Amino acid sequence: MILLQERLRSPSRLTLQTVEIAPDTTAIRSLDWDRDRFDIEFELQNGTTYNSFIVRGDKIALIDTSHQKFRDLYMDALRGQVDLSTLDYLIVSHTEPDHSGLVADVLALAPQVIVVGAKVAIQFLENMVHRPFHSQVVKQGDCLDLGQGHELEFISAPNLHWPDTIFTFDPKTQTLFTCDAFGMHYCDDHVYDEVPQILEADFKTYYDCLMGPNARSVLAALKRMEPLTVEMIATGHGPLLKHHHADWVNCYRQWSAAQASTEPIVTVFYSEDYGYSHLIAQQIGIGITKTGVEAELVDLSELDQQDVRDLVNTAAGIAIGMPSQTDAVAQTNLSTILAAAHAKQAIGFFESGGDQDEPLYPLRNKFREVGVTELFPPILVKEPPTVALNQCCEEAGTDLGQWLTRDRTVKQIKAIDTELERALGRLSGGLYIITARKGTHDKAIASAMLASWVTQASLSPLGVAIAVAKDRAIEALLHCGDRFVLNVLEENNYQPLMRHFLKRFPPGADRFAGVKTYDASNGSPILADALAYMECEVTSRMDCGDHWVIYSSVQAGRVAKAQGITAVHHRKVGNHY
Ligand SMILES: Cc1cc2nc3c(=O)[nH]c(=O)nc-3n(C[C@H](O)[C@H](O)[C@H](O)COP(=O)(O)O)c2cc1C
Repeated sequence: MILLQERLRSPSRLTLQTVEIAPDTTAIRSLDWDRDRFDIEFELQNGTTYNSFIVRGDKIALIDTSHQKFRDLYMDALRGQVDLSTLDYLIVSHTEPDHSGLVADVLALAPQVIVVGAKVAIQFLENMVHRPFHSQVVKQGDCLDLGQGHELEFISAPNLHWPDTIFTFDPKTQTLFTCDAFGMHYCDDHVYDEVPQILEADFKTYYDCLMGPNARSVLAALKRMEPLTVEMIATGHGPLLKHHHADWVNCYRQWSAAQASTEPIVTVFYSEDYGYSHLIAQQIGIGITKTGVEAELVDLSELDQQDVRDLVNTAAGIAIGMPSQTDAVAQTNLSTILAAAHAKQAIGFFESGGDQDEPLYPLRNKFREVGVTELFPPILVKEPPTVALNQCCEEAGTDLGQWLTRDRTVKQIKAIDTELERALGRLSGGLYIITARKGTHDKAIASAMLASWVTQASLSPLGVAIAVAKDRAIEALLHCGDRFVLNVLEENNYQPLMRHFLKRFPPGADRFAGVKTYDASNGSPILADALAYMECEVTSRMDCGDHWVIYSSVQAGRVAKAQGITAVHHRKVGNHY
């Protein structure tokens, strides 16, 4: 079974295993024995592995790479396996850094390689590797013939767990390479899943954290896998699923079916190859998922009518990117969406920015007649997407998601016991406006919000903590390394600013229109009428359920009026701000 196994121990417990897993197929497994965190908040008990694969026909393909921390070990092992000047393809299953962290290193040594991935993956990589490279975009059903029977087939699996995920199937060895999907954070020398009992807990935790939030996307990927005869699932994390793969797949099917029946979903219809449709769909999807609602992105030009009907029937909300007038399949599917839509659904439209967009307004009128609720004004794209358009699309998606979860939010608020609610209400805070601007000139985006859950959090270094709801517009500008200004409102002068920033702004609106500001040295706006301000930089974010607690260092600050007093917000109940 194992023809070749090398184990190279290093002091930091990073080891490497090279194993022949099927004819012409080698796994290079990077074993990270001590990793104890993933995706910031996800605690690991048993380390993890990053699995990469080589498939050899007449041509040679590498499927995924490894984490940067394995640079020397991995590159040595890879060079031991393949003369890199003969490597033909690098298939990128998705662009998360733990699998694509060494793509640039491979390209540096093998500039002839053609990078194969989903359209979005190739675009992400262009920003990641900072050098020109050959690429080939693939979608559902596309094939790549390596020769000798290794005619690789690609399965589109968006959102498992990144938007750009693809699976690769090798019909000769009946191996399905799935990267994150079906994986688990489990590190040991066993290459396969011989004893499922010791893996079950890690497999489930991994599903709950990474796959469960996109249960419908999991079901869609399982459906696309059905025609394949799979003998082994070669995952990107943990052991390869060879002995019990059907059972593991069944777990995904059952868990996802249970999850999908309870959670609302928004289906975003777009046309992968038309205009900027996929980029806009992506941003709307990000905005929707910020509210805890699942977003499923589907290509209008690739679906049959029954699929469209099923998708519309199960969706609580729909977003439609206008396809090309010449795309007959998409045109038929638009009519099917219209026929299946019903009055309880939320909807939004965007124009893709192609040359021959189907006109948006006549279609919008027809949907209005059905009685659907339009959640954001049509997004009309004329130029290549900018950061401002991305922000607008994200906010539009969030508006849609918030509308769909409004009942749940009210229920949660009402569920707190009255005594506890009153006790919590005795916690008081000041009143502040957080302002942030990222980028410069026409590449700048800005946002602001009123906050009262703000506190100093450390003296050395000087730091503050702010609780920011996960679906706030400004959240996108408060990631680690981002800078902002904390404006302190004044007791006798807070109402105009408070009223202004509590307005419901449409997606992409300029929140500073009509407000006097000047620029802080970190680039964010200082409110001229604030009592004091502090310039801050985000250093960490803690996941606190429906809020992020954003901890930031404070670099500079000033008080405008020496005698001024901070506006204080006294509450009676603790179930809202
Ligand atoms: C008195 C008061 C205090 C608030 N404090 C916070 C806060 O600390 N964190 C937060 O996320 N939202 C807080 N909010 C809610 C936001 O200010 C406001 O609803 C939000 O800016 C609107 O959402 P958007 O910016 O995503 O469009 C507060 C609202 C009020 C009325």
